[in-house]
Formats: sequence, structure tokens, C-alpha cells
Amino acid sequence: MRGVAGTRETPVVVVANRLPVDQVTLGDGSTEWRPSPGGLVAALEPVVQSSGGTWVGWPGAPDTELDPFDADGMHVVPVALSAEEVAEYYEGFSNGTLWPLYHDVTGEPVFERRWWDAYRTVNQRFADAVAEVADGPGTVVWVQDYQLQLVPDMLRRRRPDLRIGFFDHIPFPGWEIYARLPWRKQIIDGLLGADLIGFQRGGDAANFLRAARSTSGVVTRGSVIERGDGRQLRAAAFPISVDAAALDELSRRPETLARAAELRRDLGNPTTIVLGVDRLDYTKGILHRLRAYGELLDEGRLGAPDVVLVQVASPSRERVEEYQRLRDEVEVTVGRINGDHSAVGHPAVHYLHQTFPKEEMAALYLAADVLLVTPLRDGMNLVAKEYVACRHDERGSLVLSEFAGAADELRQAFLVNPWDIDGLKDAVLRAIAVAPAEAARRMRAMRRRVSEFDVHRWASAFLGGLEMVAESKAERAAP
Ligand code: F6P
Repeated sequence: MRGVAGTRETPVVVVANRLPVDQVTLGDGSTEWRPSPGGLVAALEPVVQSSGGTWVGWPGAPDTELDPFDADGMHVVPVALSAEEVAEYYEGFSNGTLWPLYHDVTGEPVFERRWWDAYRTVNQRFADAVAEVADGPGTVVWVQDYQLQLVPDMLRRRRPDLRIGFFDHIPFPGWEIYARLPWRKQIIDGLLGADLIGFQRGGDAANFLRAARSTSGVVTRGSVIERGDGRQLRAAAFPISVDAAALDELSRRPETLARAAELRRDLGNPTTIVLGVDRLDYTKGILHRLRAYGELLDEGRLGAPDVVLVQVASPSRERVEEYQRLRDEVEVTVGRINGDHSAVGHPAVHYLHQTFPKEEMAALYLAADVLLVTPLRDGMNLVAKEYVACRHDERGSLVLSEFAGAADELRQAFLVNPWDIDGLKDAVLRAIAVAPAEAARRMRAMRRRVSEFDVHRWASAFLGGLEMVAESKAERAAP
């Protein structure tokens, strides 16, 4: 890996809720490994591979006891979860309590004491697994995301010799929202076990610093936190990104271009293809987007089949009630729009409740004239950056929610407040009607940003920062 690999002396240990591959049980009872969902895996795989490192995580299925194994240039250490722990730690506390709370209560957080107990138990299991496998003093351990916020402190208690980083892939909420969490102090204390805590946006880091001062009595100077026990750490923004060069290369392949043309043909060669790509999650604003799109059709400001909407909604957290309810609502809404506006063989909305490989996604991005990324709240949203990285032809427009972390960087997108349905409708129309030269100017500027601040730069910045904090700590400790 560029920048990082060359400077790494010790292999990095990445600790994440999921392994980069999930074990899936098929209808006939056999199992197979599939790539895990989400941008986290794509971002971190190269870090582990290039440093000859280790990935500690859950194999994605309950009650799966597996020995460590080597795969794709990584040493993989599976952490087993029982069915009850999946229900209480993963579906419960992580995705029924923390996920809605951290996304500005776009869903209703549930505070369930049993779930908290499971969260603690599972975090301790992850910390113990890392303590066993991490090499000697100075080894870098990089803990990922909201499912494992207690791991930094639990790990430090067992292995004070390690350099511990933590990266939060999702937003960190303002104090008024965070303060509701009955276990707010325990979570902050867990995170304060790290040497460096990374967030997507400056605002997330500021929210965390405020929460740390309020719950744990620490003193902060800028991004530096004085714990009071002589130990210092830092909390700052490190916006995550994509492998822009790899996506650019993929999008230029003849087979990708041919597939993009084929997709256009299959969609009936419409004048305009509008695309949405999301995990089927209530934070993504899919219903608001469908509402805006449906109204534009109702009012005759857009006409099917001249314009088509392709909405990819990949299955996610399907056993959590809020996700089941959302799926029903999305499917009813798509059905209603199609009932009102489709013609035989020409649906107004192509709804795909599926997950596609990256090759197919690159072709879809190339085929789309407008991409709608309109979450109500999102840590970063790597779909927006993937789209930009794939548009080597400098065509295509991006409509982007100001509540996605990506909005801090992709300023040339058509920025919207997704709660404002009229504003959203206007932005969709402007993005469709934009002159080609203007669209190219915007896309060029966004491509420059994504190719300069790519995932390699993100990882180097974080790991470099972690090294600096850990070194200044060693200097202070020297007699
Ligand atoms: O950062 C968001 C995140 O929860 C990641 O931790 C994860 O890789 C991705 O979304 C997909 O979520 P899940 O693992 O719950 O399917």
C-alpha cells in the first residue's frame, strides 16, 4: 500500500465487528464466504494486506467457531458470537440503540439493559482475542467503529505496550442527543483508552470532545485530551475515502464500458437515468427521495419512461424491526409510483433489493446521468466518492445531502437538505438539466479531490498520527 506500507515496521492488527468476508449458509445447508458489506472493508483490506497484518472479527454467522486462517494476504482471527449475542450485541445494542442515536435519532433508539451487558461481554471477547494475538511492544492495533467502543480501554488494561487507534465510521452526535444514553460515561471511558480517535468530520470530533469533558472530566486543548492520569491522547477528523485509482482503472475497462451501454439499452435507452445506491437503511433517506421523485412525476415535471430511476437497496440488518418496517414502506412506495407512472415493459422505478459486485456497480455508475445520495445523516457515504472516482468521462451529476460527511469535500455537487422535499425536487431537476460543460467542470473538481485524498492517504494520515501520539507519550515517559 502506497505511503503506509513503506513506513510500517510492524504489521497492523485491524479489529472490526465483521471479518472482510462473511460466512453465509445456503438453502441446501452448505456454506460459502462472501465479501462483507460496507465501505469499511474496502478501506481497510489494503492496510492489513500491505503490512502483512491481522484482521480480528466476527465471521457474520452465529455460533461459528473457526480457527485462525490465512486468506488474501491477511491473517484472519475469527471471534465467535452466539445467536443470543448476535441478537443482543449486534442487532440490539449496536443497531437498535447506538445506530439510531448516533444518526441524530432518525430512528427510535431502544435502551435495553440486557443489550448493554451483551455489548460489554462481546467487546471484552474482542479485546481478549487481540491481547492474545498482537505482537510485542509498539504493535499498532486499529479498532473500528461503534460496535467496539469499549475495546480500546479493555485492551489497554491487558496490553499497555500496544499503540491503540480507534476510528468511528459513523457520526458522533451532539451532546443533547448523546446525553440520553444511560451508559454514556462507560462508552467515553472505553474510547479514552485509545492513543488516537479518528472521526469523519470536524463536527463529530468536536461533539466527542464535548461529551468527554462532560462525562469523564478530562481537559481538552484543541484536539489533545489530558486524561488526568498523565496520559494524553488526540481526537480529530480523518475523512475516509475510496481507492480512486483502482476505481478509475475499473471504470475504463472495455468490459465495464460495454456493460454500461448494455444497461442503458436494457433500461430502454431513456434520455436520463437517475440512480440511487444504498444499504436499505432508514438513515439513507430513501423514502424522502422516492417521495420527491414521485411528486415530480405526478406534477409532470419529469416524465417516465423518458426518465427512469434505478434504486439499488442492498439488504441489511434484516432481522431488526425498524429495517423490516422500512423495507415494507419502501416497497409500497415503489409499487405506488410504478402503478401510477409505468407503461408495459417500462417501469418508472427499477427497484433492486440486491447486492452487486463492484464491476456491476462501476457499470451502473457510468450509465447513470444523475446519482442521488441523499441520506438524512451519514458518517461519510463512500457511494458518492465511488461515483466520482468512476466518472473518468467527466459526465454525470451528483445530488448530495449536506448531512453526509462527503459534503465537506464534494462541494461541487448539487447540495441538498434531504428533509426539504421541494428543495430536493429542484436539485434533481437542476442536476438533470445542467449544461454538459458545467457538469464536467463540477465533476473534474470533485475527481481531483477524491484522487488526491484517497483511501491510502486516509490510512497514512491516521497511522502517522497514531505513531506521533505514541512517540510523544514514550518521550514523556523517558527518565
Ligand atoms: O460504518 C457503518 C457500518 O456499520 C460498518 O461498521 C459496516 O461495515 C457496514 O456499516 C455494514 O453494516 P453491517 O455490518 O451491520 O452489515
